[in-house]
Amino acid sequence: MVRNDQPLLDVRGLSVAFRTRGHEQLSAVQELSVSIDPGGSLALVGESGSGKSVSMRALLGLLPANAVVGGSARWSGEGDVPGGTELIGLAPRAFRAIRGRQIGMVFQNAMQALNPTIPLKRQLTEHLRWHGSCTRAEAEVRAVRALGDVGIPDPERRIRMYPFQLSGGMRQRAMIAMAMVADPRLLIADEPTTAVDVTVQKQILDLLIDLRDRGTAIIMVTHDLGVARYLCEDVAVLYSGQVMESARLVDAVEDPRHPYTRGLIGSALELGDDSPLRPIGGNPPDLADRPAGCAFQPRCTAADGERCAEVQPLVRLADAREVRCWRSSHE
Ligand SMILES: Nc1ncnc2c1ncn2[C@@H]1O[C@H](COP(=O)(O)OP(=O)(O)O)[C@@H](O)[C@H]1O
Ligand SMILES: [Mg+2]
Repeated sequence: MVRNDQPLLDVRGLSVAFRTRGHEQLSAVQELSVSIDPGGSLALVGESGSGKSVSMRALLGLLPANAVVGGSARWSGEGDVPGGTELIGLAPRAFRAIRGRQIGMVFQNAMQALNPTIPLKRQLTEHLRWHGSCTRAEAEVRAVRALGDVGIPDPERRIRMYPFQLSGGMRQRAMIAMAMVADPRLLIADEPTTAVDVTVQKQILDLLIDLRDRGTAIIMVTHDLGVARYLCEDVAVLYSGQVMESARLVDAVEDPRHPYTRGLIGSALELGDDSPLRPIGGNPPDLADRPAGCAFQPRCTAADGERCAEVQPLVRLADAREVRCWRSSHE
C-alpha cells in the first residue's frame, strides 16, 4: 500500500568516487541528497560532467563495484520488495526485481540501451516475463500496447523489427516504451531528448508529461533548465558533483539563489527575458583539481574573495529550499 507521506525514493549523502591510475580517487559526486514523492517530478540539472549520469547509475546499481563510497538511497518498495529497501549495495539479484520493473530507465543514446541484435519484442517482454509474472502472450499484448502508447504507428508490425530498422525518433520512443512496459512507479530519464531533433524532442517531452499526468514519478536528467521547466516540479542543480541549489523549479527559475543557477538560466533558451544568451564563462573544474571552498567560485561573478574560496555554506531557506552559497538570502 502506498503511503503518501513517505518519499518514493530518498537519497541521502550519496558520494561516488572513481579510482584511476595516477590519482588516489576522483570524487565525481559528493553528498548528493534528493528525494521524490510518489507521482512527483524532479529535474537534475547541470552542465556536462557535473555528475548527473553517475548519480543515477549509482542509484540503479550500474557503477563499477566500490564506486559508491557513501550515502543511502531508500526505495519505498512494492509487492515482494519491502518498503525502505536500501539500493546502495543491493545484491544484483534483488535489483532485478526493482530495475526495469519498479524503476524504469531511459538513457540518452537509444542505440546503446537497446540491443541491436535482438528484436524489439524480446527486449520489451523481458522485464514482464521475469519471474514468470506473466505469460508470453500477455507480455506480447502489453508490449504492443506500450509501443502504441508512445505513439509508434502500427506497433504489431514494428514490434518484430530490430532497433536498427527504426528511425532515431522511433528508437527513442521504443526505449521509453521499454522503460514503461512494466508500469514502473518511477521513471529515470537521462537526457532523453539530447540526441534527437527538435520536433522529436517536443514529442518526447509531451510523452513524458503525459506519463507524469498519469501518476508516474519522473526524474529528468538534463543540462537544459528550459527543458526541465516543461516537466518538473522540483529541481536539484548539480555542479562538479554537488547540489548547489535544490528548490521548487518555478522558484529556482523566477528567483535563483545560487549564481550557478542564475548562470544556467542566462544560458538557456526560452528562459527569462528576451535578452541574448549569456553563457557562463570558463569551464567546470577538473575532478582531480577541484578548488577549495565553493567549486563554482573561480567562475562566479558574485564571488567575494576569501570567504567563498575557503568555506562553502549550506543555507536552508523556507519551503525546504537549500542553497550552497553565502549570498543565497539576498543579504
Ligand atoms: N567510470 C568512470 N571512471 C572515471 N571517471 C568517470 C567514470 N564515469 C564518469 N566519470 C567522470 O565523472 C564525472 C561525471 O560524469 P557524468 O555523471 O557522466 O556527467 P553528466 O553530468 O554529464 O552526466 C565526469 O568528470 C566523468 O568524466
Ligand atoms: Mg550524462
